[in-house]
Amino acid sequence: MGKERKLHFGALIHGVGGHISIWKHPEVKPNQSVSLQFYTQQAQVAEKGKFDLIFIADGLYINEKSIPHFLNRFEPVTILSALATVTKNIGLVGTISTSYSEPFNVSRQLASLDLISDGRAGWNVVTTPLEGTALNFNKTIEEHPDHPTRYEIADEYLEVAKGLWDSWEDDAFIADVEKDQFFDPEKLHTLNHKGKYFSVKGPLNVARSKQGQPVIFQAGSSEAGVKLAAKHADAIFTNFPTLELSKQFYKKVKEEVAKAGRNPDEVLIFPLLSPIIGDTVEEAERKYNEVKNLVTIERALDYLGRYFDHHDFSQYDLDAPFPDIGDIGANSFRSTTERIKKEAKELGLTLREVALRETTPKPEFFGTPEDVANKIEKWFVEEAGDGFMFAVSVPHALEDFVEKVVPILQQRGLYRTEYEADTLRGNLGIPFKENRYAKQHV
Ligand SMILES: Cc1cc2nc3c(=O)[nH]c(=O)nc-3n(C[C@H](O)[C@H](O)[C@H](O)COP(=O)(O)O)c2cc1C
Repeated sequence: MGKERKLHFGALIHGVGGHISIWKHPEVKPNQSVSLQFYTQQAQVAEKGKFDLIFIADGLYINEKSIPHFLNRFEPVTILSALATVTKNIGLVGTISTSYSEPFNVSRQLASLDLISDGRAGWNVVTTPLEGTALNFNKTIEEHPDHPTRYEIADEYLEVAKGLWDSWEDDAFIADVEKDQFFDPEKLHTLNHKGKYFSVKGPLNVARSKQGQPVIFQAGSSEAGVKLAAKHADAIFTNFPTLELSKQFYKKVKEEVAKAGRNPDEVLIFPLLSPIIGDTVEEAERKYNEVKNLVTIERALDYLGRYFDHHDFSQYDLDAPFPDIGDIGANSFRSTTERIKKEAKELGLTLREVALRETTPKPEFFGTPEDVANKIEKWFVEEAGDGFMFAVSVPHALEDFVEKVVPILQQRGLYRTEYEADTLRGNLGIPFKENRYAKQHV
């Protein structure tokens, strides 16, 4: 690594929780996933902790087995636009699917968010694992595209989006009253894209922001996901359960980025961090048990089933070895389903054990603020990540982290005490995105 590394943090805001049963906790309000007040409070806590970004995840298909947060939640760009007005420095990142949207609309929405927030927008590009999604988009898509096709679409989609974002050079709008010219025609570029999946003429009807283009995130860990990230992304979200696996993934991504002809220091890797923090280890244990005890086996089976395209696991013997379900899920959350099947086999787990482990895993980052800070430092120094995507595990976890763990990391010189910039690119330490046409005038 060339330059001095500093930790980066994102905060995944997940209303009533990313977990299937947290909503039952007495300190969680049932309307939290659609409460502007709650999102504002969480974003402001993350900004107080000098986080690089907040992140709003998303999906486009639900059924009665979906986790409660998915049943009733905000559309990402809409809530991020509102949060832009009550925050100053923190990045605003949202998920949008490339399999179920049109590049023209999405480029425009994100460019608008980038202007509203003055250079703080980011896009988590997902290809949408859930097969049922096609049922909500049958005007244009009859069948859920398979995994390789989805990534091929995403690649072309990103080419189009990035092309549209460069429609206007940064000094295109000259507003010259004397000459009666609102814009300089040499600085307007029409994309004229015609490809396998998209035909988009352009130009886009919105200018670029202070950071050039929104920051691109990618969250798939499959081979195809890594290739897409290596080519297009500025950062990648990931979720491997151990230090060793995260280090392997980190190395692989950085190698792929270099192979794609890009600077590996400019593509950041954010493993998921879902710590349980107590003033003592016993307090952390108590908080963990509180959440664990909220889960029934029926809900745990639903939660597990979601990864396997909502497969109904209730048909199997709970205490027999994890059933052989063949390839179900391979076209859905592929990397997760492969990991679950592999672990079940290697550790000889029953279906009950697998379901409960997946629903409330005991977090790797666990214990006192010192314990959690030590582990973060270890993962960072050993290159398992360049930062972390924080997801709330128990109520008030974000507040505890900002109050108790952040100061330790700051004292150790691992983490900023002030924002370096007021754009997302600036804080992530990745360069301003030059307009591809700017050089031709030099
Ligand atoms: C931190 C994190 C956040 C994610 N957020 C989303 C999301 O908001 N929407 C979504 O459909 N998938 C999300 N995913 C899942 C991935 O984008 C991806 O769809 C999934 O891992 C399957 O892709 P793969 O087979 O390439 O691994 C997320 C994954 C991680 C690790």
